[in-house]
Parts: sequence; structure tokens; C-alpha cells
Amino acid sequence: MSIRHLPIFGATLASAFPACPDFNETYTIMGSRDNALWQQCWLDQQIDFHQKEVNRLLTRFWCGLDLAPGSRVFVPLCGKSLDMIWLAQQGHEVIGIELSPLAVRAFFRENRIQPSRRKVGKFTLWQYNNISILCGDYFSLTQADLGSIDVVYDRAALTALPENIRRLYVAHLKLILPPACKVFLLTVEDADEGETREVTLGTSAEITALYSEAFAIELAHVESVLEPAAGHPGGSTKCSEHKVYRLIPR
Ligand SMILES: C[S@@+](CC[C@H](N)C(=O)[O-])C[C@H]1O[C@@H](n2cnc3c(N)ncnc32)[C@H](O)[C@@H]1O
Repeated sequence: MSIRHLPIFGATLASAFPACPDFNETYTIMGSRDNALWQQCWLDQQIDFHQKEVNRLLTRFWCGLDLAPGSRVFVPLCGKSLDMIWLAQQGHEVIGIELSPLAVRAFFRENRIQPSRRKVGKFTLWQYNNISILCGDYFSLTQADLGSIDVVYDRAALTALPENIRRLYVAHLKLILPPACKVFLLTVEDADEGETREVTLGTSAEITALYSEAFAIELAHVESVLEPAAGHPGGSTKCSEHKVYRLIPR
């Protein structure tokens, strides 16, 4: 089972570089190149990942987290996701982080919201009522920037990153979040060759490797979706698995 990641510009982000065990070295080489690609992506409006509706799996399965009213939700790599509006409407305090100022500006403009804006350390904080977006690099975030967080909402954040950066992403999450913080994670996964259906429909080995040390992993839902197969003209399709994980700290 391979978690699909989003190639941009035909370039496959930093996966072109060999994995490197040292965080600073890895991220300095890979991060700056990837950040430039994402900025370009927003400039060229190559944002196919953006969903024009609130995510259906979010609205259906979020309640299973049993959160207290007013819980603080962190949305890493948030883009201009409408899911933040829905989360705020549920009474949550929403804190997103996004690299591109174009994305942040578009989020507030398209939702007809007039935010305040000020510099906070390395970030620009855009804020309106219970929605805050820090504009800057996720890997520069500290616990103090975020404050206390009850749950992470991750749709196309982990999976936006190439495999060799994902473990750095998770290590950084652990660094900046309180130990009791839960994670609600959506993935799109493709079957590997020769894999049994049972394995395809189960918890991905990569998710287990990344999260099982710190979290109990609950696979809350799997949905098989037929999609047009890329690079196969003539209407051929392939099946991918859309999964909902709830990660509960051990
Ligand atoms: C695939 S998009 C997903 C956006 C959003 N989660 C959604 O569901 O629409 C990934 C987003 O992460 C942002 N991004 C990439 N690297 C980042 C980083 N290091 N720090 C903050 N944002 C980043 C990109 O600009 C892009 O908007």
C-alpha cells in the first residue's frame, strides 16, 4: 500500500534527493527547493489539490474524536482549505500554517473575511475570530508559536510531502504538540503490485511506521474510489483507497 503524494510541476519534490539522516542537512537541501516549488504552484494557480467543497470524510468522521467544545485544532500545510471554515463553525479554535501568502490571502478573500495581520516571530499571523493562519514554514514552527493544541487535522499535508521528508514532518509534529494531542488523518492510498485485498484495505505499513510508537492507530473508514488512470488514455480507471485514521496518543 503506497500513500499517494502530490507531484508538482512534474517534479517529484525533494524525493529526487537521497534520504539523509540529519534533519538540518536534509531540510536545508530539500526544504528550500520544495518551498520554492510550492510558492510557484500558488503563483501559477496549479492547485488541483484544493477542494471546492468541505471534505465529506471530515464532516462524517470528525465527531468520533469526542472533542470538548472549543478544542484547538491545528491544520498543518492548510492551503486555502474550506475545511477550516467548517471546523471553526463547529466551535473550534482553528490554527493553520501555510507557506504561501497568496494562499492565505485567497482564503480570507474568497470567504469574504477581513482578517487582521501582524508579524509574530518568523511568521505573519492572519486572524479573524476563531481562525488564525500563520504564514511561513511549518518546519520553523515552535511549541510557543502554536500554543496548546488538542487535535491535528491533516488532509494532504503528510501526503503532500515526499516519503523521505514525511518522517521529518512527523518528528516535528511530536516536537511542537503536547503529548495528549490527537490526529485526524486522511490519506489516499494505491495498492502495490501483488498485494492482497486484505492488506490494501488495512492500515498502511507507512502510517504504522510513522505513528505507532506514539499513537494507537484507528482506521475509522476505507472507501474504494475508481479514478481515471493517469497516463492511460481511453477511459481506463484504477482503484484507490480513501482512508480515515484517528490517531490517539498512547
Ligand atoms: C497539497 S496542499 C494541501 C492544502 C490543504 N491541506 C488542502 O487540503 O487543500 C499542501 C500545501 O502545503 C503548503 N506547504 C508546503 N510546504 C510547506 C511548509 N514547509 N510549510 C508550510 N506550508 C507548506 C503548500 O503551499 C500547499 O498549500
